[in-house]
Amino acid sequence: MASRFANSTDTAPRRDTRGLTGLRGMQPGELRFFLDSARALRRGGLDSHRALCPGRQVALVFYEHSTRTRMSFEAAAGRIGATALVLSEATSSARKGESLRDTGRNLEAMGIEALVLRHPDPDSSAFLAGELRIPVINGGAGAGEHPTQGLYDLLTLEDALGDLKQRHIVIAGDVAHSRVARSNIFGLRSLGARVTLSGPESLVSRWWTELGVHVQPDLDLALEGADVVMLLRLQSERLEGDAPGAPGTLRARWGVTEERLERFPDLKVMHPGPITRGVELSHGAADSEHSLVMRQVENSTFVRMAVLAHALGAEVPR
Ligand code: CP
Repeated sequence: MASRFANSTDTAPRRDTRGLTGLRGMQPGELRFFLDSARALRRGGLDSHRALCPGRQVALVFYEHSTRTRMSFEAAAGRIGATALVLSEATSSARKGESLRDTGRNLEAMGIEALVLRHPDPDSSAFLAGELRIPVINGGAGAGEHPTQGLYDLLTLEDALGDLKQRHIVIAGDVAHSRVARSNIFGLRSLGARVTLSGPESLVSRWWTELGVHVQPDLDLALEGADVVMLLRLQSERLEGDAPGAPGTLRARWGVTEERLERFPDLKVMHPGPITRGVELSHGAADSEHSLVMRQVENSTFVRMAVLAHALGAEVPR
């Protein structure tokens, strides 16, 4: 989807570096700051960090559907003592025509101290960060980036594999429309991992090699020597025109099943959710010992606690 927001403001960005709009260009040290903070929070457990941000207020502004991101940001805010105020586009004055900028400025004027935004436009978070003084955190921006997802995927990968240098991660499925793929590619490449993309040609263009990744349309060839495969669902809400293939074709060529896992016994499986069971992952594969999916979700809360604490200016003790 083309952005409505790119270059739409002529004011100098007042970007607050405590926000998080993407992982693109992030140095290993910046990634490690969030990963180490999340690990420190995890060591303390979910129940011992309420003194970090007592009484602080963050807004969760959602223009798209969500289960994991919305709930784990809300849970994370509570775990650090902050209050999350949730605004869903479907019940907001956006439906009366109010702009994203005006929505954000009104929330800021109410004293909200940080804003998490999910929005279909890839440039929405960067745009809003340039319009507000409070930190803006990208909670998933169209086919742009999903940086907190990228961070907790990195944390999950390091838990499973240790140092990611030269580790081989395959990302398979609908890469073209995936903000998860982009944030993971930027994070993984920064930490020195090898990344291979696999999927139908219309969903994995050769252009992606410019990001320093390999493209291998044959999933079985891509999986040779891979440590982890990260599956992506077909983002039907972002498809313009025909689907790139029948679900049966996608399953047979790019789906991970128990049979495929038998051929790659050491392979770990990740998925950002929601899973379309029976297409990119079979039931058995999704719930198998290969699966790190619930580890990803467990880590999501700690990463979002770290990101919110940083946004609110709280120092996480290491
Ligand atoms: N992974 C993810 O962002 O899930 P939700 O769309 O449910 O938030």
